[in-house]
Amino acid sequence: MKSLSLTIFGITSNLAQIKLIPALYDMAEKGLLPENIEILGNARTPMSKDEFAHYIENVLHSPNIHHTHPVKPEIVKKLLSKFHYISGHLDDPSFYAGLAKILRLNRSADKIFYLATYPELYHHIFENLQKVGLNKQTKGFVRMMIEKPVGNDLKSAKELNQLLLTYFEENQIYRLDHYLGKETLQNILTFRFSNGIFEPLINKDYINHIQITAAEDFGIGARGGYYDQVGALKDVGQNHQLQMLAFATMDAPSEFSSRAVTAQRIKILQDLIPFPTKAVFGQYEGYHQEKNVDPNSNTDTFYALKTYIQNDRFKDVPIYIRAGKKLAQTVTEISIIFKNPANRLLKHLDCSDEPNVLIYRIQPNEGIVLKILTKIPWHENKLQPEYMQYCYRVDPHSHYIPDPYERLIADTIRGDQTFFNDAKEVEAQWAFTDPLASTRKKPYIYKPGSWGPKEADELIEKDGRAWLEPSMDFCRI
Ligand code: BG6
Repeated sequence: MKSLSLTIFGITSNLAQIKLIPALYDMAEKGLLPENIEILGNARTPMSKDEFAHYIENVLHSPNIHHTHPVKPEIVKKLLSKFHYISGHLDDPSFYAGLAKILRLNRSADKIFYLATYPELYHHIFENLQKVGLNKQTKGFVRMMIEKPVGNDLKSAKELNQLLLTYFEENQIYRLDHYLGKETLQNILTFRFSNGIFEPLINKDYINHIQITAAEDFGIGARGGYYDQVGALKDVGQNHQLQMLAFATMDAPSEFSSRAVTAQRIKILQDLIPFPTKAVFGQYEGYHQEKNVDPNSNTDTFYALKTYIQNDRFKDVPIYIRAGKKLAQTVTEISIIFKNPANRLLKHLDCSDEPNVLIYRIQPNEGIVLKILTKIPWHENKLQPEYMQYCYRVDPHSHYIPDPYERLIADTIRGDQTFFNDAKEVEAQWAFTDPLASTRKKPYIYKPGSWGPKEADELIEKDGRAWLEPSMDFCRI
């Protein structure tokens, strides 16, 4: 049987430890790893077979908020039987000769490469893979998985896309933004396009405005070296949050295919208007004391912005987006706030001006809920807001909802690019973010545990609106 190889460049990286190794474990547990797969982990430090096995076990047993369910010894054993370690420097051509030899000995016809390493090494990797013929699809497929952010601005993204296309075809390149692999995001497409009754309301005639929040109550942890160079806008704004917006507002694809779905996402991203004067940046108090952070750093750990989609469907519908670290709560959601009909009944009662809100709760308390007004059961008329809800009701210790990395690795093995970014898409994201990033001023300092600087509240309050406080009242387990 011809075999499949998954080579992870950077097996000791933070990404591999937090996401990839746990996702591969889950795939092993769920029987989703093909029987014929060989996983090659690469890093610089030499490690014996036992040392490597010990490293993988250690990773799986370390506390990880993304992987909380019990780790079973028999699954670890199964996973380890697929894993091999190959040390070497990625800028050293002799490493690739060794890699090619191993892949040949394993009769690995289908090859997947995962870049979990520094972008500065990418060109060495591509060039050297080509030199030993590992980018050629002679007997099987070759696929390259590359993590967001692709580039650091539009110019560098274009250069990287160009570089990738020098060695690979677009259909070999899997640009990964793990938000696209989230079940709760993918379900937005089903909710909107497989039901008939909601979609007619998703437009300027019914919608007052849209809010998107991605808040985390924790800081940057040990990632200062990376984060301080990037900041919140580029870390999650340019990618995850724009994708959330795209899923919530794109037009129906003509079919459920990679080409059609991606085309609709791109259209929305290209129609977004950046307003540098409508962006607020913040930094949490104490950020300068974080490890590997410049003590004078002006890096944003929070941002809030206002934008519009330049198309007829959403003309003049404001969209407010915010994200940050060390905020009051960990919660990610999209809220569609509907207009209140002028002729509504019981206008004089308390709460009667509460708008209907459609909430796509990405995490936690995952679900899709509609905030409505109902009558409090009694002899008189009194109103109360309530939630109509579809809830996943997930036990956080189960892994019933696939982890996005699990999903996206499985998609790459299958050759399905629907939930990956193509070159144009990434460039459209940067074209929106660049004018905001390049005009960033010194960030406002905010208190850990707050909702960011007061200037972010003022941004929306100027329009007579307010940020919605994410509710934990629905979809509780
Ligand atoms: C990553 C960012 O891409 O996404 C992190 O680099 C962020 O800073 C993370 O915490 C959020 O992902 P999730 O799936 O935990 O919401």
